[in-house]
Amino acid sequence: MCGIFAYLNYLTPKSRQEVLDLLVTGLKRLEYRGYDSTGVAIDSLDNKDIVMVKRTGKVKVLEDAIKEHFSGGEYSEPVLTHMGIAHTRWATHGVPCERNSHPQRSDEGNSFVVVHNGIITNYNDVKTFLSKKGYEFESETDTEVFAKLVHHLWKKHPNYSFRELVEQAIQQVEGAFAIAVKSKHFPGECVASRRSSPLLVGIKTKTRLATDHIPILYGKDDKKPSCDQDVDSSKASVLPRSDSTSEFMPEQKEVEYFFASDASAVIEHTNRVIYLEDDDVAAVRNGILSIHRLKKSLDDPHAREITTLKMEIQQIMKGNYEYFMQKEIFEQPDSVVNTMRGRVRFDGQSIVLGGIKDYIPEIKRCRRLMLIGCGTSYHSAVATRQLLEELTELPVMVELASDFLDRNTPIFRDDVCFFISQSGETADTLMALRYCKQRGALIVGITNTVGSSICRESHCGVHINAGPEIGVASTKAYTSQFISLVMFALVMSEDRLSLQQRRLEILQGLSKLAEQIREVLKLDNKVRELAKDLYQHKSLLIMGRGYNFATCLEGALKVKELTYMHSEGIMAGELKHGPLALVDDSMPVLMIVLRDPVYVKCMNALQQVTSRKGCPIIICEEGDEETKTFSSRHLEIPRTVDCLQGILTVIPMQLLSYHIAVLRGCDVDCPRNLAKSVTVE
Ligand code: G6P
Repeated sequence: MCGIFAYLNYLTPKSRQEVLDLLVTGLKRLEYRGYDSTGVAIDSLDNKDIVMVKRTGKVKVLEDAIKEHFSGGEYSEPVLTHMGIAHTRWATHGVPCERNSHPQRSDEGNSFVVVHNGIITNYNDVKTFLSKKGYEFESETDTEVFAKLVHHLWKKHPNYSFRELVEQAIQQVEGAFAIAVKSKHFPGECVASRRSSPLLVGIKTKTRLATDHIPILYGKDDKKPSCDQDVDSSKASVLPRSDSTSEFMPEQKEVEYFFASDASAVIEHTNRVIYLEDDDVAAVRNGILSIHRLKKSLDDPHAREITTLKMEIQQIMKGNYEYFMQKEIFEQPDSVVNTMRGRVRFDGQSIVLGGIKDYIPEIKRCRRLMLIGCGTSYHSAVATRQLLEELTELPVMVELASDFLDRNTPIFRDDVCFFISQSGETADTLMALRYCKQRGALIVGITNTVGSSICRESHCGVHINAGPEIGVASTKAYTSQFISLVMFALVMSEDRLSLQQRRLEILQGLSKLAEQIREVLKLDNKVRELAKDLYQHKSLLIMGRGYNFATCLEGALKVKELTYMHSEGIMAGELKHGPLALVDDSMPVLMIVLRDPVYVKCMNALQQVTSRKGCPIIICEEGDEETKTFSSRHLEIPRTVDCLQGILTVIPMQLLSYHIAVLRGCDVDCPRNLAKSVTVE
């Protein structure tokens, strides 16, 4: 969680006000990552100090504070070279307040200031060590120890470069981090690094860069002892000091660098980015970017590639919609097509998933499929499990990443493990991936974020191509994950004669999906009216079974996330084992009853509810007069093949939670206490 943004302009005149505008815009793009407090740091007017502004609350609050603080004309004077850092926080250590906001500083003189995403797990050890050296801590954050550790190293090694100081410091810390550091002793320089949390560098030059990669520089393995073995001698690693001299020289004089947690914050400035890898240290000095690693391992590449982003700025703007979530719900007719584009040939009835096609023979030989994810991504696995079992004829296990890790689940070399994640950065999912990879399983990533950690660490995978999803509550990523898994099931059954008829009906269903989603979206006004009946209630039960059980779970998650109402997705088959006790004439209930193999069982459940005076809202198939007689409130959706129904039934749930949230005055795109990308365990 948390969003990091840093901006360095080298020989590119920018006033402090322009720099602050850039930093604030960057933070707005990253706000989905956390939004309980924010902060920026820039150079003081005399360039001798660092000025920080921090606020509790969202980026807008910081923006107003900045306007007040830096209103004088002197802040509009251009500065040739400058480096500023910014942060939007999702609290892990210490309550949201200005004191705990980032940047965190090394000392009262602001020698070193740090923005950080992640958790430094050994911060107590480092804190104890630094306290003994006389450091006093002013926040409850784990980040502050990093700033103070760099300061301590600087005092001890006044001749070290900025990069060397940070390099030394990251060897002493454990856990997950992406950091960007600014120092008044190294003006115009930036040092950034990552371990398990995402970080990329955007490069903007006047003329196109003459290279498409940045060489990696390795420290000398000269076994020189680390300066601080005493931080915690049991844990601190004794690593050599890096001493690289050759540096990458772009043939550019004027250059701007953007360090960000994700590409949405840099795309409006440049489409040329480098995704940093774990333990890379990226440093900019005299306008030159260099990437360092302390040790070379056998499979390390020689360079980091400069990637050209394909995303457009319009893709991350709200357009005419009030909220990103609303926009993303209404984008689904297009996003589902984008997921299938270039993969599904409706005429030839064939499907090619380029990212996994070479692995299909190996997958077909596997012992079982495991689908692992968190939140909405987990629900997409629940939604497609039945079809995967049917078309692959393999055992399919569906796992919540956190629970999977808690259980130390046995994993074998002939397991195929799918990791499903919109962001590709969810810590629990990533940990589960590494756990399975270590045990020799084949790793398949299903993500929406090109270049994300899950993408890079998978053996193969499918990009769901839903486009950037900004609203914290996932919507279009769910339907695209769903379709990606359906496509995989179709690929696996390509040569099974007995399954051809079934495959054909699913392919026909997929071809009509975009049009049918458009039909479902027309229910928007009707759903808003239903939301008016529901928004003052305390609870909403959502019931269904079979292919629609996942919609119940996902619908209930949307209602909880967005409206802060209690909501539960109930497997209708379990009704009489407990949940029926909740039903009376005042308990809001929504039931999904479609004409599929479990229709009769669903009708039983419906009758059990209505005979307890329950008055459910029913989601049923268009023209199903019989089912409609059970309630005056119903939403009709077009008929599709059973295994794709979940794509159509989830959309009214997305709309319903959206409208209830608006009526309750909740912040739709940034629900309280949540973040889009959960990069901590
Ligand atoms: C967070 C978000 C959820 C999301 C889950 C998994 O909890 O608030 O909306 O479903 O993470 O995220 P992922 O990026 O791995 O799909």
